[in-house]
Amino acid sequence: MQQKINNMTQEYISNNKKRFLDELFSLLKIPSVSADMKFKEDVLSAAKFLEQNLIEIGAENVKIYPTEGHPIVYADKIISKDLPTILVYGHYDVQPADPYELWDTDPFSPIVKPTTIHPDGAVFARGACDDKGQMFMHLKAFEAMNKTNTLHCNVKFMLEGEEEVGSANLENFVRNNTQLLKSDVVLVSDTGIINNDTPSICVGLRGLSYVEVEVTGPNRDLHSGLYGGGVANPINILSSMISSLHDENGKINIPGFYDDVIEVSDNDRKEMAKAPFDINYYKHDLEIDDIHGEEGYSTNERTSIRPSLDINGIWGGYIGEGAKTVLPSKAYAKISMRLVPNQKSQDITNLFQKHFESIAPSSVKVKVTPHHGGEGVVIPTDFPAYLAAKNAMETTFGKAPIPVRSGGSIPIVPMFEEVLGLKTILLGFGLDSDVIHSPNEHFGLFNFYKGIETIPHFYENYAKLMSK
Ligand code: BES
Ligand code: MN
Ligand code: MN
Repeated sequence: MQQKINNMTQEYISNNKKRFLDELFSLLKIPSVSADMKFKEDVLSAAKFLEQNLIEIGAENVKIYPTEGHPIVYADKIISKDLPTILVYGHYDVQPADPYELWDTDPFSPIVKPTTIHPDGAVFARGACDDKGQMFMHLKAFEAMNKTNTLHCNVKFMLEGEEEVGSANLENFVRNNTQLLKSDVVLVSDTGIINNDTPSICVGLRGLSYVEVEVTGPNRDLHSGLYGGGVANPINILSSMISSLHDENGKINIPGFYDDVIEVSDNDRKEMAKAPFDINYYKHDLEIDDIHGEEGYSTNERTSIRPSLDINGIWGGYIGEGAKTVLPSKAYAKISMRLVPNQKSQDITNLFQKHFESIAPSSVKVKVTPHHGGEGVVIPTDFPAYLAAKNAMETTFGKAPIPVRSGGSIPIVPMFEEVLGLKTILLGFGLDSDVIHSPNEHFGLFNFYKGIETIPHFYENYAKLMSK
Protein backbone atom coordinates (compact mmCIF):
# COMPACT_ATOMS: atom_id res chain seq x y z
CA MET A 1 0.00 0.00 0.00
CA GLN A 2 2.75 2.46 1.03
CA GLN A 3 4.66 1.61 -2.11
CA LYS A 4 1.60 2.34 -4.25
CA ILE A 5 1.13 5.69 -2.54
CA ASN A 6 4.70 6.65 -3.22
CA ASN A 7 4.45 5.54 -6.84
CA MET A 8 1.60 8.01 -7.31
CA THR A 9 3.70 10.85 -5.91
CA GLN A 10 6.67 9.92 -8.07
CA GLU A 11 4.50 9.57 -11.16
CA TYR A 12 3.07 13.06 -10.60
CA ILE A 13 6.63 14.37 -10.34
CA SER A 14 7.72 12.74 -13.63
CA ASN A 15 4.64 14.09 -15.40
CA ASN A 16 5.25 17.65 -14.27
CA LYS A 17 9.03 17.99 -14.53
CA LYS A 18 9.00 20.49 -17.34
CA ARG A 19 6.51 22.81 -15.62
CA PHE A 20 8.43 22.61 -12.31
CA LEU A 21 11.50 23.89 -14.14
CA ASP A 22 9.54 26.62 -15.94
CA GLU A 23 8.22 27.86 -12.60
CA LEU A 24 11.71 27.85 -11.09
CA PHE A 25 12.84 29.94 -14.06
CA SER A 26 10.17 32.54 -13.24
CA LEU A 27 11.44 32.75 -9.68
CA LEU A 28 15.08 32.98 -10.78
CA LYS A 29 14.26 35.89 -13.08
CA ILE A 30 13.42 38.06 -10.08
CA PRO A 31 16.63 39.75 -8.80
CA SER A 32 15.85 39.38 -5.08
CA VAL A 33 19.20 40.64 -3.77
CA SER A 34 18.68 41.30 -0.07
CA ALA A 35 21.91 43.22 0.54
CA ASP A 36 21.14 46.05 -1.86
CA MET A 37 18.11 48.29 -1.19
CA LYS A 38 17.94 49.01 -4.92
CA PHE A 39 16.31 45.55 -5.19
CA LYS A 40 13.82 45.97 -2.34
CA GLU A 41 10.79 45.80 -4.68
CA ASP A 42 12.22 42.71 -6.38
CA VAL A 43 12.64 40.94 -3.06
CA LEU A 44 8.96 41.67 -2.41
CA SER A 45 8.05 40.36 -5.88
CA ALA A 46 9.82 37.10 -5.10
CA ALA A 47 7.80 36.82 -1.87
CA LYS A 48 4.59 37.44 -3.84
CA PHE A 49 5.56 34.83 -6.41
CA LEU A 50 5.96 32.27 -3.63
CA GLU A 51 2.70 33.35 -2.01
CA GLN A 52 0.91 32.74 -5.32
CA ASN A 53 2.63 29.42 -5.90
CA LEU A 54 1.84 28.20 -2.38
CA ILE A 55 -1.84 29.01 -2.96
CA GLU A 56 -1.80 27.15 -6.29
CA ILE A 57 -0.28 24.01 -4.80
CA GLY A 58 -2.91 23.88 -2.07
CA ALA A 59 -1.12 25.26 0.98
CA GLU A 60 -3.33 27.07 3.49
CA ASN A 61 -3.00 30.17 5.66
CA VAL A 62 -0.63 31.59 3.08
CA LYS A 63 0.57 34.94 4.31
CA ILE A 64 3.32 37.47 3.73
CA TYR A 65 4.56 38.84 7.04
CA PRO A 66 6.26 42.19 6.57
CA THR A 67 9.32 42.90 8.74
CA GLU A 68 11.55 45.92 9.21
CA GLY A 69 13.58 44.45 6.38
CA HIS A 70 12.37 41.94 3.79
CA PRO A 71 9.19 39.88 4.29
CA ILE A 72 8.70 36.33 5.51
CA VAL A 73 6.34 34.01 3.61
CA TYR A 74 4.39 31.58 5.75
CA ALA A 75 1.98 28.81 4.74
CA ASP A 76 0.85 25.50 6.16
CA LYS A 77 -1.24 22.41 5.62
CA ILE A 78 -2.40 20.66 8.75
CA ILE A 79 -4.06 17.38 7.84
CA SER A 80 -4.27 15.68 11.23
CA LYS A 81 -3.39 16.40 14.84
CA ASP A 82 -2.08 12.85 15.08
CA LEU A 83 0.58 13.31 12.45
CA PRO A 84 4.00 14.90 12.95
CA THR A 85 4.58 18.42 11.65
CA ILE A 86 7.53 19.39 9.48
CA LEU A 87 8.68 23.02 9.43
CA VAL A 88 10.25 23.71 6.03
CA TYR A 89 12.67 26.62 6.03
CA GLY A 90 14.32 28.17 2.98
CA HIS A 91 15.44 31.57 1.72
CA TYR A 92 14.38 33.33 -1.45
CA ASP A 93 16.91 36.15 -1.23
CA VAL A 94 20.17 35.84 -3.11
CA GLN A 95 23.70 37.21 -2.95
CA PRO A 96 24.54 40.19 -5.16
CA ALA A 97 25.46 39.01 -8.68
CA ASP A 98 28.56 41.21 -8.93
CA PRO A 99 30.90 41.12 -10.71
CA TYR A 100 28.50 40.90 -13.67
CA GLU A 101 31.27 40.82 -16.27
CA LEU A 102 32.45 37.42 -15.02
CA TRP A 103 29.11 35.76 -15.82
CA ASP A 104 28.91 33.92 -19.15
CA THR A 105 25.16 34.62 -19.27
CA ASP A 106 22.95 37.11 -17.44
CA PRO A 107 22.56 36.11 -13.75
CA PHE A 108 18.81 36.80 -13.85
CA SER A 109 18.09 35.15 -17.22
CA PRO A 110 18.19 31.47 -16.26
CA ILE A 111 19.40 29.04 -18.91
CA VAL A 112 20.09 25.29 -18.95
CA LYS A 113 23.54 24.21 -20.14
CA PRO A 114 25.40 20.92 -19.70
CA THR A 115 28.68 20.86 -17.75
CA THR A 116 31.27 18.13 -17.18
CA ILE A 117 29.81 17.43 -13.75
CA HIS A 118 26.20 17.91 -14.87
CA PRO A 119 26.03 16.20 -18.30
CA ASP A 120 22.21 16.31 -18.16
CA GLY A 121 22.27 20.06 -17.76
CA ALA A 122 22.34 22.64 -15.00
CA VAL A 123 20.35 25.84 -14.50
CA PHE A 124 22.64 28.85 -14.51
CA ALA A 125 21.36 31.85 -12.52
CA ARG A 126 22.03 33.66 -9.27
CA GLY A 127 20.19 31.70 -6.60
CA ALA A 128 19.80 28.58 -8.79
CA CYS A 129 21.34 26.52 -5.99
CA ASP A 130 21.49 28.98 -3.06
CA ASP A 131 18.70 28.82 -2.27
CA LYS A 132 15.82 29.33 -4.74
CA GLY A 133 16.33 26.05 -6.57
CA GLN A 134 16.68 24.05 -3.37
CA MET A 135 13.84 25.83 -1.57
CA PHE A 136 11.54 25.39 -4.58
CA MET A 137 12.09 21.59 -4.49
CA HIS A 138 10.08 21.62 -1.26
CA LEU A 139 7.15 23.44 -2.83
CA LYS A 140 7.07 21.02 -5.75
CA ALA A 141 7.45 17.94 -3.54
CA PHE A 142 4.57 19.25 -1.43
CA GLU A 143 2.53 19.87 -4.57
CA ALA A 144 3.11 16.30 -5.72
CA MET A 145 2.11 14.86 -2.34
CA ASN A 146 -0.86 17.17 -1.87
CA LYS A 147 -2.32 16.78 -5.36
CA THR A 148 -2.08 12.99 -5.18
CA ASN A 149 -3.40 12.82 -1.62
CA THR A 150 -0.20 11.22 -0.41
CA LEU A 151 0.87 13.79 2.16
CA HIS A 152 2.05 11.87 5.23
CA CYS A 153 2.84 14.77 7.56
CA ASN A 154 1.55 18.21 8.46
CA VAL A 155 3.72 20.89 6.98
CA LYS A 156 4.53 24.54 7.71
CA PHE A 157 6.56 26.66 5.32
CA MET A 158 8.66 29.58 6.51
CA LEU A 159 10.55 31.24 3.67
CA GLU A 160 12.67 34.29 4.36
CA GLY A 161 14.23 37.09 2.34
CA GLU A 162 17.17 37.99 4.56
CA GLU A 163 19.32 34.88 5.00
CA GLU A 164 22.20 36.33 3.02
CA VAL A 165 22.26 39.39 5.28
CA GLY A 166 22.09 37.62 8.63
CA SER A 167 18.38 36.76 9.27
CA ALA A 168 18.02 39.44 11.98
CA ASN A 169 14.27 39.92 11.42
CA LEU A 170 13.59 36.22 11.13
CA GLU A 171 15.09 35.78 14.56
CA ASN A 172 12.48 38.18 15.98
CA PHE A 173 9.74 36.47 13.99
CA VAL A 174 10.70 33.08 15.40
CA ARG A 175 10.85 34.46 18.96
CA ASN A 176 7.43 36.10 18.60
CA ASN A 177 5.66 33.20 16.85
CA THR A 178 6.61 30.07 18.73
CA GLN A 179 3.00 28.83 18.72
CA LEU A 180 2.53 29.36 14.99
CA LEU A 181 5.78 27.53 14.27
CA LYS A 182 5.22 24.65 16.68
CA SER A 183 6.47 21.53 14.87
CA ASP A 184 8.42 18.33 15.37
CA VAL A 185 11.44 18.97 13.17
CA VAL A 186 12.83 21.55 10.77
CA LEU A 187 13.69 20.50 7.22
CA VAL A 188 16.08 22.64 5.17
CA SER A 189 17.69 22.21 1.76
CA ASP A 190 20.43 24.85 1.71
CA THR A 191 23.60 22.74 1.86
CA GLY A 192 25.22 20.15 -0.38
CA ILE A 193 26.17 16.56 -1.07
CA ILE A 194 29.68 15.22 -1.76
CA ASN A 195 28.91 14.46 -5.41
CA ASN A 196 26.09 12.99 -7.47
CA ASP A 197 27.31 9.42 -6.84
CA THR A 198 28.03 10.03 -3.17
CA PRO A 199 25.04 11.29 -1.22
CA SER A 200 25.69 12.92 2.14
CA ILE A 201 23.76 14.73 4.84
CA CYS A 202 25.14 17.86 6.42
CA VAL A 203 25.44 17.35 10.17
CA GLY A 204 27.36 20.47 11.12
CA LEU A 205 27.60 24.14 10.29
CA ARG A 206 30.16 26.66 11.46
CA GLY A 207 29.29 29.84 13.28
CA LEU A 208 30.34 33.25 12.11
CA SER A 209 31.74 36.44 13.53
CA TYR A 210 32.16 39.25 11.02
CA VAL A 211 33.89 42.57 11.64
CA GLU A 212 35.05 45.57 9.72
CA VAL A 213 38.19 47.43 10.77
CA GLU A 214 39.30 50.97 10.04
CA VAL A 215 42.86 52.17 10.66
CA THR A 216 43.48 55.91 10.60
CA GLY A 217 46.90 57.51 10.34
CA PRO A 218 47.33 61.20 9.54
CA ASN A 219 44.21 63.36 9.24
CA ARG A 220 44.53 63.63 5.44
CA ASP A 221 46.19 61.95 2.46
CA LEU A 222 49.81 63.07 2.22
CA HIS A 223 52.55 63.31 -0.42
CA SER A 224 54.43 60.02 -0.05
CA GLY A 225 57.72 61.74 -0.82
CA LEU A 226 57.41 64.62 1.59
CA TYR A 227 55.97 62.52 4.45
CA GLY A 228 56.93 58.92 3.52
CA GLY A 229 59.12 57.39 6.23
CA GLY A 230 58.08 59.88 8.87
CA VAL A 231 54.41 59.09 9.42
CA ALA A 232 52.63 55.77 9.98
CA ASN A 233 51.05 54.57 6.75
CA PRO A 234 47.73 52.95 7.81
CA ILE A 235 47.89 50.42 4.95
CA ASN A 236 51.38 49.30 6.00
CA ILE A 237 50.23 49.07 9.60
CA LEU A 238 46.97 47.28 8.79
CA SER A 239 48.86 44.74 6.65
CA SER A 240 51.24 43.85 9.46
CA MET A 241 48.43 43.75 12.02
CA ILE A 242 46.55 41.36 9.74
CA SER A 243 49.55 39.14 9.12
CA SER A 244 50.10 38.83 12.86
CA LEU A 245 46.64 37.26 13.23
CA HIS A 246 48.00 33.82 12.26
CA ASP A 247 51.11 32.20 13.69
CA GLU A 248 53.61 30.08 11.74
CA ASN A 249 51.52 26.94 12.37
CA GLY A 250 48.39 28.48 10.93
CA LYS A 251 46.82 28.98 14.37
CA ILE A 252 44.80 32.11 15.01
CA ASN A 253 46.80 34.42 17.20
CA ILE A 254 44.08 36.00 19.30
CA PRO A 255 44.33 35.31 23.04
CA GLY A 256 41.43 33.13 24.19
CA PHE A 257 40.29 32.37 20.62
CA TYR A 258 40.46 28.58 21.06
CA ASP A 259 39.25 28.45 24.68
CA ASP A 260 35.76 27.16 23.83
CA VAL A 261 36.72 24.99 20.86
CA ILE A 262 35.67 21.38 21.36
CA GLU A 263 38.33 18.99 20.11
CA VAL A 264 36.76 16.28 17.98
CA SER A 265 37.72 12.81 19.22
CA ASP A 266 40.23 10.73 17.27
CA ASN A 267 37.51 8.23 16.63
CA ASP A 268 35.18 10.82 15.10
CA ARG A 269 38.06 12.21 13.04
CA LYS A 270 38.70 8.72 11.69
CA GLU A 271 35.02 8.38 10.78
CA MET A 272 35.06 11.76 9.05
CA ALA A 273 38.17 10.84 7.08
CA LYS A 274 36.22 8.03 5.41
CA ALA A 275 34.31 10.53 3.27
CA PRO A 276 35.86 10.47 -0.20
CA PHE A 277 38.08 13.47 -0.90
CA ASP A 278 40.61 13.86 -3.70
CA ILE A 279 43.26 16.36 -2.70
CA ASN A 280 44.79 16.34 -6.19
CA TYR A 281 41.47 17.18 -7.78
CA TYR A 282 40.97 19.91 -5.16
CA LYS A 283 44.30 21.51 -6.10
CA HIS A 284 43.73 21.05 -9.80
CA ASP A 285 40.24 22.55 -9.61
CA LEU A 286 41.49 25.64 -7.78
CA GLU A 287 44.73 25.82 -9.79
CA ILE A 288 46.85 25.92 -6.66
CA ASP A 289 50.19 24.14 -6.25
CA ASP A 290 49.71 23.53 -2.57
CA ILE A 291 47.14 23.69 0.18
CA HIS A 292 47.45 25.84 3.28
CA GLY A 293 46.13 25.86 6.82
CA GLU A 294 46.39 24.86 10.43
CA GLU A 295 49.09 22.30 11.10
CA GLY A 296 47.93 18.88 12.24
CA TYR A 297 44.58 18.92 10.43
CA SER A 298 43.42 17.71 7.03
CA THR A 299 41.83 20.03 4.48
CA ASN A 300 38.35 18.74 5.33
CA GLU A 301 39.01 19.23 9.03
CA ARG A 302 40.38 22.73 8.49
CA THR A 303 37.17 23.74 6.74
CA SER A 304 34.70 22.08 9.09
CA ILE A 305 35.75 21.17 12.63
CA ARG A 306 38.34 23.96 13.01
CA PRO A 307 37.76 27.71 13.13
CA SER A 308 39.26 30.02 10.50
CA LEU A 309 39.93 33.72 9.99
CA ASP A 310 39.92 35.38 6.59
CA ILE A 311 40.21 38.87 5.20
CA ASN A 312 37.27 39.24 2.81
CA GLY A 313 38.25 42.63 1.45
CA ILE A 314 40.95 45.21 2.01
CA TRP A 315 41.13 48.71 0.62
CA GLY A 316 42.51 52.20 0.99
CA GLY A 317 44.79 54.62 -0.85
CA TYR A 318 45.00 54.97 -4.59
CA ILE A 319 43.79 52.10 -6.78
CA GLY A 320 43.08 53.99 -10.02
CA GLU A 321 45.10 53.84 -13.23
CA GLY A 322 48.79 54.67 -13.22
CA ALA A 323 50.76 55.71 -10.17
CA LYS A 324 49.77 58.32 -7.64
CA THR A 325 52.31 59.01 -4.93
CA VAL A 326 50.13 59.17 -1.88
CA LEU A 327 50.40 58.20 1.76
CA PRO A 328 46.77 57.47 2.64
CA SER A 329 44.98 58.65 5.73
CA LYS A 330 42.89 55.49 6.12
CA ALA A 331 42.90 51.74 5.48
CA TYR A 332 40.06 49.25 5.85
CA ALA A 333 39.40 45.53 5.91
CA LYS A 334 36.43 43.19 6.28
CA ILE A 335 37.24 40.09 8.29
CA SER A 336 35.24 36.89 8.76
CA MET A 337 35.88 34.31 11.43
CA ARG A 338 34.24 30.91 10.98
CA LEU A 339 33.58 29.34 14.35
CA VAL A 340 33.01 25.83 15.52
CA PRO A 341 30.11 24.81 17.76
CA ASN A 342 30.46 26.01 21.37
CA GLN A 343 32.46 29.11 20.39
CA LYS A 344 30.11 32.06 20.94
CA SER A 345 29.98 34.57 18.13
CA GLN A 346 29.63 37.54 20.48
CA ASP A 347 32.55 36.41 22.66
CA ILE A 348 34.81 35.98 19.66
CA THR A 349 33.86 39.39 18.29
CA ASN A 350 34.76 40.91 21.67
CA LEU A 351 38.06 39.01 21.83
CA PHE A 352 38.90 40.15 18.33
CA GLN A 353 38.09 43.78 19.09
CA LYS A 354 40.13 43.83 22.29
CA HIS A 355 43.09 42.13 20.63
CA PHE A 356 43.04 44.23 17.47
CA GLU A 357 42.95 47.46 19.47
CA SER A 358 45.76 46.22 21.70
CA ILE A 359 48.17 45.46 18.84
CA ALA A 360 47.73 48.84 17.13
CA PRO A 361 50.80 51.06 17.47
CA SER A 362 50.20 54.50 19.02
CA SER A 363 50.84 56.11 15.62
CA VAL A 364 47.39 55.04 14.37
CA LYS A 365 43.79 54.88 15.59
CA VAL A 366 41.77 51.68 15.17
CA LYS A 367 38.01 51.25 14.95
CA VAL A 368 36.38 47.80 14.93
CA THR A 369 32.74 47.58 13.80
CA PRO A 370 30.95 44.24 14.30
CA HIS A 371 28.57 42.97 11.60
CA HIS A 372 26.14 40.07 11.75
CA GLY A 373 27.17 36.79 13.30
CA GLY A 374 25.76 33.42 14.18
CA GLU A 375 26.44 30.23 16.08
CA GLY A 376 27.57 26.87 14.79
CA VAL A 377 25.62 23.67 15.12
CA VAL A 378 26.14 19.90 15.22
CA ILE A 379 23.27 17.58 14.33
CA PRO A 380 23.03 14.10 15.84
CA THR A 381 22.68 11.06 13.60
CA ASP A 382 20.61 8.91 15.94
CA PHE A 383 17.15 10.45 16.07
CA PRO A 384 14.05 9.66 13.95
CA ALA A 385 14.31 12.59 11.54
CA TYR A 386 17.91 11.76 10.69
CA LEU A 387 17.02 8.13 10.05
CA ALA A 388 14.09 9.25 7.89
CA ALA A 389 16.42 11.45 5.84
CA LYS A 390 19.06 8.75 5.58
CA ASN A 391 16.56 6.16 4.38
CA ALA A 392 15.00 8.63 1.95
CA MET A 393 18.37 9.29 0.31
CA GLU A 394 19.23 5.63 0.33
CA THR A 395 16.01 4.97 -1.60
CA THR A 396 16.57 7.61 -4.27
CA PHE A 397 20.37 7.35 -4.65
CA GLY A 398 20.64 3.60 -4.06
CA LYS A 399 23.36 4.30 -1.48
CA ALA A 400 23.36 5.32 2.16
CA PRO A 401 24.38 8.96 2.66
CA ILE A 402 27.51 9.86 4.62
CA PRO A 403 27.16 12.37 7.46
CA VAL A 404 29.44 15.36 6.76
CA ARG A 405 30.15 18.56 8.69
CA SER A 406 30.21 21.63 6.49
CA GLY A 407 32.13 24.88 6.81
CA GLY A 408 29.33 27.27 5.87
CA SER A 409 26.87 29.00 8.18
CA ILE A 410 23.08 29.26 8.44
CA PRO A 411 22.64 31.38 11.56
CA ILE A 412 18.92 30.67 11.97
CA VAL A 413 19.45 26.92 12.41
CA PRO A 414 20.82 27.14 15.99
CA MET A 415 17.95 29.54 16.77
CA PHE A 416 15.44 26.81 15.87
CA GLU A 417 16.96 24.70 18.60
CA GLU A 418 17.32 27.53 21.11
CA VAL A 419 13.88 29.13 20.64
CA LEU A 420 11.67 26.34 19.31
CA GLY A 421 13.53 23.37 20.78
CA LEU A 422 13.69 21.83 17.30
CA LYS A 423 16.42 19.91 15.58
CA THR A 424 17.07 20.60 11.92
CA ILE A 425 17.69 18.17 9.08
CA LEU A 426 19.98 19.71 6.47
CA LEU A 427 18.86 17.76 3.42
CA GLY A 428 20.79 19.68 0.77
CA PHE A 429 21.44 18.67 -2.84
CA GLY A 430 23.97 21.26 -4.09
CA LEU A 431 27.58 20.58 -5.08
CA ASP A 432 30.64 22.63 -4.11
CA SER A 433 31.27 23.01 -7.84
CA ASP A 434 27.90 24.80 -8.25
CA VAL A 435 29.82 27.93 -7.20
CA ILE A 436 27.18 29.50 -4.95
CA HIS A 437 27.84 33.23 -4.28
CA SER A 438 30.16 33.34 -7.32
CA PRO A 439 29.67 34.19 -11.01
CA ASN A 440 28.02 31.38 -13.03
CA GLU A 441 26.24 29.83 -10.06
CA HIS A 442 24.25 26.82 -11.21
CA PHE A 443 22.21 23.85 -9.98
CA GLY A 444 22.12 20.47 -11.71
CA LEU A 445 18.79 19.29 -13.12
CA PHE A 446 19.69 15.88 -11.70
CA ASN A 447 19.99 17.49 -8.26
CA PHE A 448 16.80 19.55 -8.57
CA TYR A 449 14.71 16.52 -9.52
CA LYS A 450 16.50 14.20 -7.08
CA GLY A 451 15.59 16.62 -4.32
CA ILE A 452 11.93 16.69 -5.34
CA GLU A 453 11.87 12.88 -5.43
CA THR A 454 13.66 12.43 -2.11
CA ILE A 455 11.55 14.81 0.00
CA PRO A 456 8.30 12.74 -0.16
CA HIS A 457 10.26 9.70 1.05
CA PHE A 458 11.42 11.77 4.01
CA TYR A 459 7.80 12.64 4.88
CA GLU A 460 6.70 9.06 4.57
CA ASN A 461 9.61 7.64 6.60
CA TYR A 462 9.26 10.31 9.25
CA ALA A 463 5.53 9.72 9.70
CA LYS A 464 6.17 5.99 10.04
CA LEU A 465 8.96 6.40 12.59
CA MET A 466 6.97 8.90 14.65
CA SER A 467 3.83 6.78 14.76
CA LYS A 468 5.63 3.97 16.57
N1 BES B 1 23.43 28.19 2.05
C1 BES B 1 24.52 28.95 2.53
C2 BES B 1 25.34 28.24 3.59
C3 BES B 1 25.91 26.90 3.23
C4 BES B 1 26.22 26.55 1.92
C5 BES B 1 26.14 25.98 4.23
C6 BES B 1 26.73 25.29 1.63
C7 BES B 1 26.67 24.75 3.94
C8 BES B 1 26.96 24.39 2.63
C9 BES B 1 23.97 30.25 3.09
O1 BES B 1 23.08 30.87 2.20
C10 BES B 1 25.11 31.22 3.27
O2 BES B 1 25.68 31.64 2.30
N2 BES B 1 25.41 31.59 4.53
C11 BES B 1 26.37 32.62 4.79
C12 BES B 1 26.14 33.21 6.15
C13 BES B 1 25.23 34.40 6.17
C14 BES B 1 25.19 35.00 7.56
C15 BES B 1 25.59 35.45 5.16
C16 BES B 1 27.76 32.06 4.78
O3 BES B 1 27.98 30.89 5.14
O4 BES B 1 28.67 32.83 4.43
MN1 MN C 1 21.73 29.53 1.44
MN1 MN D 1 24.29 31.91 0.66
